[in-house]
Amino acid sequence: MNLPAPSCATPIGIFDSGLGGLSVLRAVRAQLPAERIVYVADSRYAPYGQRDDDFIADRTLAICEWLVAQGAKALVVACNTATAQSIALVRERLSVPLVGVEPGIKPAALISKSRVAGVLATPVTLRSTRFQALVERHAADLRVLCQPGHGLVEAVERCDVSSPALVELLRGYVQPMLDAGADTLVLGCTHYPFLDAAIRSIVGERMMLVDTSVAIARQLERVLDQHGLRAQLAADASAAPGTPARFCSTSDGAHLRTLAAALLGIEAQVECVSIPSPRTLEPAANAA
Ligand code: DGL
Repeated sequence: MNLPAPSCATPIGIFDSGLGGLSVLRAVRAQLPAERIVYVADSRYAPYGQRDDDFIADRTLAICEWLVAQGAKALVVACNTATAQSIALVRERLSVPLVGVEPGIKPAALISKSRVAGVLATPVTLRSTRFQALVERHAADLRVLCQPGHGLVEAVERCDVSSPALVELLRGYVQPMLDAGADTLVLGCTHYPFLDAAIRSIVGERMMLVDTSVAIARQLERVLDQHGLRAQLAADASAAPGTPARFCSTSDGAHLRTLAAALLGIEAQVECVSIPSPRTLEPAANAA
């Protein structure tokens, strides 16, 4: 394959199982306004949180390879589930600079005063050895209450971030944490920052919400600098309209367009893309 050589001008690839990575994209655009971005939502196969490990690895690798083929100079796996499950494999296979995301256990351990913190994440993230190691490394003196966020990714994927049913679902997850004395809630899935207002409507000021998207954007900046790949703003930056991102979805793209407009104020033209992978070429998966 004849790929463009990575340079400051080539784009950053950001990928998530679906729309959640838009919360990371928002932080990356704020931190690195000169960067071009290609975003892939694998919405056809979301949520990943209930998939088997091999399926997640299969999709993560295929999408990262696809982004590299589009000329991406660096990749952000903007999905806790895919990072927990597959980032080691991607690092092994691809030489492109890579940034993953993981639940903010370390910041939670630094800020919690009650020494009780809740973590909302997908079942795959919570049962991963990466997550267990994170807790052991940073939260030895913290009581960590892990709650799988069943149904939350699905809600965000259909652009529901505030319905009464969703608020009740969230209440069932966070009220027991409050009752147990938690003063901090880790949003361990990139879809969940879009539920910020719904969570606030339940917990008020009683909990600090930990979202790592700004830290991820800063980490990406460091990685780009290390590789001499950071794009520079034009001299008259104030005149620049902001570099538009290229949005791609493996589904029909309608929800990606809606969420980008509603939550990020971006009028996105969404390309529907096909990114085959060995598992999705299997007859059973293909028929889905
Ligand atoms: N945004 C993904 C994450 O951070 C959601 C995973 C899923 O599709 O279940 O884990």
